[in-house]
Amino acid sequence: MQKQSDPLDSIFNKALSGDSLFTNRQALRTDFIPENLPYRDEQITSIGQILSPILQDSKPSNLLLYGKTGSGKTVVAKYVLKKFDETTRKHSKSISVAYSNARLAGSEYRVLVDLAHSLSMEMPFTGLPISEVLQRIYNNISENNLKVIFIIDEIDYLAKHAKSSNDDMLYSLTRSSEHLKNGFISIIGISNDLHFKNFLDPRVLSSMNEEEILFPPYTVNQLSDILNKRIESAFKTKSVPSGTINLCAALAGSEHGDARRAIELLRVAGELAERSDEKSVVEKYVKDASQKIDKDRIYQAIKTLPIHEKAVLLAVDNNNDNSTTGDVYNKYQTLCKKISLDPLTQRRISGLLSELDTQGLINASIINKGRHGRTKKISSLVPNETIVKVFNDDPAANLLL
Ligand SMILES: Nc1ncnc2c1ncn2[C@@H]1O[C@H](COP(=O)(O)OP(=O)(O)OP(=O)(O)O)[C@@H](O)[C@H]1O
Ligand SMILES: [Mg+2]
Repeated sequence: MQKQSDPLDSIFNKALSGDSLFTNRQALRTDFIPENLPYRDEQITSIGQILSPILQDSKPSNLLLYGKTGSGKTVVAKYVLKKFDETTRKHSKSISVAYSNARLAGSEYRVLVDLAHSLSMEMPFTGLPISEVLQRIYNNISENNLKVIFIIDEIDYLAKHAKSSNDDMLYSLTRSSEHLKNGFISIIGISNDLHFKNFLDPRVLSSMNEEEILFPPYTVNQLSDILNKRIESAFKTKSVPSGTINLCAALAGSEHGDARRAIELLRVAGELAERSDEKSVVEKYVKDASQKIDKDRIYQAIKTLPIHEKAVLLAVDNNNDNSTTGDVYNKYQTLCKKISLDPLTQRRISGLLSELDTQGLINASIINKGRHGRTKKISSLVPNETIVKVFNDDPAANLLL
């Protein structure tokens, strides 16, 4: 019998042959720090100037970096600190640099644990009062006369999910000199929410933004240049036509100039082209990439929903734009019975519908029916196949289908 060729063999053989459109995929990862950052000279220079007193052992001002998503705040901050680290090592200056992403850390406690670990301190992951953690960090800084720069990325997360202790933590950190006999700690806060200052305690704000730097969105032409530079490090020469670059830039620039979106489009388009054995990343793959990214994003959003919200989403009829809250609730109750789930009240479901509306997963519009009052019409914005896929992948929920 003739041996059938295994489809995996050809995939693995292709990978082993080294025949790829990419020369360095790492260069398209979000945590990659490029050698140069076009259009950010002004911001890089300002941060450098603000931080440079540390080289003469003086405390730099606290600093706030803000601008929309994908405008280069994180990469610029990391780039400057990397350069700083190189310079201080060369001149045998001892400076400690710490970084924490507040959203990923998830709580003020975890942010402080990140800081403590960067200062080579042992700190349990839970259990101590915030004030105790702060005190231990301050003791370490004072005793060892440490000079510390601490970046708190996505700092708005702390402000928005504020317990009152959050304010105390930021307040204390931004005025740490009052607690330190020696050494110092300067804070660089980063936020993509231009309104987040409204969430902050005014006392924290006034010490936090001693200096502020704005990152404007990139223009479409600037995005094209950024992509061109990235392509030099990531792709084989001549494998990305200019039409493809311009399309990625135009799509990513259509809302606001988001460099992350532009690079992601290019990376996914490259992957799709490679899987189709193309010799170059033709424009068609950018459109496919855009669809794939949107689909993946919706999939992720639904996947992480709690079971009741998943059931509500399934209860919104995909083929009917005229469903009312009552219709959805009835169907939701039937679904709950199927998987022995205690249904929530109609009022709670109405609240969940509003949340799904805010997340862009359904459309709930109020229709004015004249003297018959007002009613809510609910329709789904998610392709049926995506919902079905999520349910198939979730053992608790797939009983619903
Ligand atoms: N001027 C630039 N040159 C090259 N690459 C850039 C530039 N600006 C941003 N990028 C790249 O774009 C992506 C997004 O940048 P970054 O993560 O710094 O955005 P951000 O402003 O921190 O966004 P968010 O607020 O969503 O965290 C990263 O991959 C980064 O390397
Ligand atoms: Mg960022």
